[in-house]
Amino acid sequence: MLRTHTCGELRIEQVNQTVTLCGWVQKVRDTGGLMWIDLRDRYGITQLSFEENSSEASVLETARSLGREFVVKATGTVVERFSKNDKIPTGQIEIKVTDLEVLNPSEIPPFIIEDNTDGGEDLRMKYRYLDLRRNEVREKLQLRSRMAIAIRNYLAEQEFIEVETPVLIKSTPEGARDFVVPSRMNPGEFYALPQSPQTFKQLLMVSGFDRYFQIVKCFRDEDLRADRQPEFTQIDCEMSFVNQDDVLGNFEGMTRHLFEKIKGVSFEGDFPRMDYAEAMRRYGSDKPDIRFGMEFVELNEVAQNKGFNVFDQAELVLGICAKGCAEYTRKQLDALTNFVKRPQVGAKGMVYVKCNPDGSFKSSVDKFYSQEDLKAWAEKAGAEAGDLLLVLSGNTDTTRKQMNELRLHMGTELGLRDKDVFKPLWVVDFPLLEWDEETERYHAMHHPFTSPKQEDMVKLDTAPGEVRANAYDLVINGVEIGGGSIRIHDKGIQKLMFKHLGFTDEEAKAQFGFLMDAFEYGAPPHGGIAFGFDRLCALFGGSDSIRDYIAFPKNTSGRDVMIDSPAAVDSKQLDELGMSLKA
Ligand code: AMO
Repeated sequence: MLRTHTCGELRIEQVNQTVTLCGWVQKVRDTGGLMWIDLRDRYGITQLSFEENSSEASVLETARSLGREFVVKATGTVVERFSKNDKIPTGQIEIKVTDLEVLNPSEIPPFIIEDNTDGGEDLRMKYRYLDLRRNEVREKLQLRSRMAIAIRNYLAEQEFIEVETPVLIKSTPEGARDFVVPSRMNPGEFYALPQSPQTFKQLLMVSGFDRYFQIVKCFRDEDLRADRQPEFTQIDCEMSFVNQDDVLGNFEGMTRHLFEKIKGVSFEGDFPRMDYAEAMRRYGSDKPDIRFGMEFVELNEVAQNKGFNVFDQAELVLGICAKGCAEYTRKQLDALTNFVKRPQVGAKGMVYVKCNPDGSFKSSVDKFYSQEDLKAWAEKAGAEAGDLLLVLSGNTDTTRKQMNELRLHMGTELGLRDKDVFKPLWVVDFPLLEWDEETERYHAMHHPFTSPKQEDMVKLDTAPGEVRANAYDLVINGVEIGGGSIRIHDKGIQKLMFKHLGFTDEEAKAQFGFLMDAFEYGAPPHGGIAFGFDRLCALFGGSDSIRDYIAFPKNTSGRDVMIDSPAAVDSKQLDELGMSLKA
């Protein structure tokens, strides 16, 4: 090594030792007589010192030539510092430099590479390799690395085998659009990048691998959000000879292990389970944040038939109770109304009822409801003096979705979504199929290989929307961390499923013939799950955005602004592919 120690290593015990450090110049302070340089590497910062009277002239000259981010090698003696810095572990000592070599000069960086940087998001993304020198950013990736290692160790101990599956494949139907790659050797034909290794892991079960995992890149061409990237990483797992409880038990174990190992957090008792229908009824979401209550209360019984047209005509009148919020001002209530009216939420309006401390009620619909009426609402909602009821109404599904937004907004506003509190929840019994208004047909809610519940199979023809699947999600703090299912392993049922999804026999054979064929040769009962690894990292790191946990992420337009991708290819490449672009 060019160095004897790292920049985070030296302590008072090493005083008088001769050492050599390598790193980047973070800061230079020159008083004329004395000069200090903060030398940084990924391990920390060590102060180098120079003295006009005692340092060699050539060393001083080199030191004076340094600028921010120069890469240097410094040799010297460890000495006790005159003014100590308790904020850094090496703050007791400094290096009295006797030899200084510039390993590489640097341009002036486009932003200051310190914890408090002056660089905006766009600039830091363009120079991501410089941003990665900052502690905060590097620490996030170090967390990611520790988590990946802990997962591998845990799963290896449980006899899981890590297998890589191909990246150039044929479309997997996971609901999003595929990224496609033209094939030069097969003109006019395309590979698709996997949305997940779903079919491959099922084939590995047919091969008898029994327990498979892979920390794997997946690709989905969908609209991006804080928790979505076009390429993201899954902890993808599959097991044979298991039922749903086995899968949930095993991966609850993995989740606990990670929390204990990485965050020192342990959970008492089993993770709670809630079926999809209940989650929708109580929280209007298939990924409820159960760090706080504010559950939905259906008010139809007490709010309808009193002459208020909006409620009378509604399929659902839905309330939530915000504890201790009766003091909300007009301005605050208007802000909430504006919130629910935003296009992203889409409500037409919001009704409120203040449960005043003196036992009276004040509502935005006083014209239609007596004090007695409002008291009945409050009782139904479990609201007490000092609380505030917020009410939305309309079609059931829409109202629940809108109320979910309002509930989460209130939870955030009232500080009930503490990032240091972790509340896991298994959401189970998802519907097998969901109706798609656009294509006017049923789609698999999870994917076409998910098995229906045996007892619901009779409804496949009569009420397909009511058939439940052996499908589950792991939700933590309102984030969908993972999802999976027990698969169909019977060719007949798989065929039936394709039929209900509107595939003709030929279409099913063309797309999934390989899987159907594999099922002819002894497919074991199997099931699995995939965790969104980036989401898990962001959750552990206390952030809403997964971008920070990806070394080289894409921006919200799906661009990598550092390498400037996607980009046009030259006409020669297109020619080789036998392709031309529409004008
Ligand atoms: P699913 O589609 O639910 O299941 O994906 C599994 C998990 O991956 C994460 N995830 C994403 N993370 C970041 N950006 C994205 N664009 C993105 N999309 C999904 C989520 C999600 O819970 N093959 C099945 C799994 C199985 O059945 O075993 C699958 O991919 O955290």
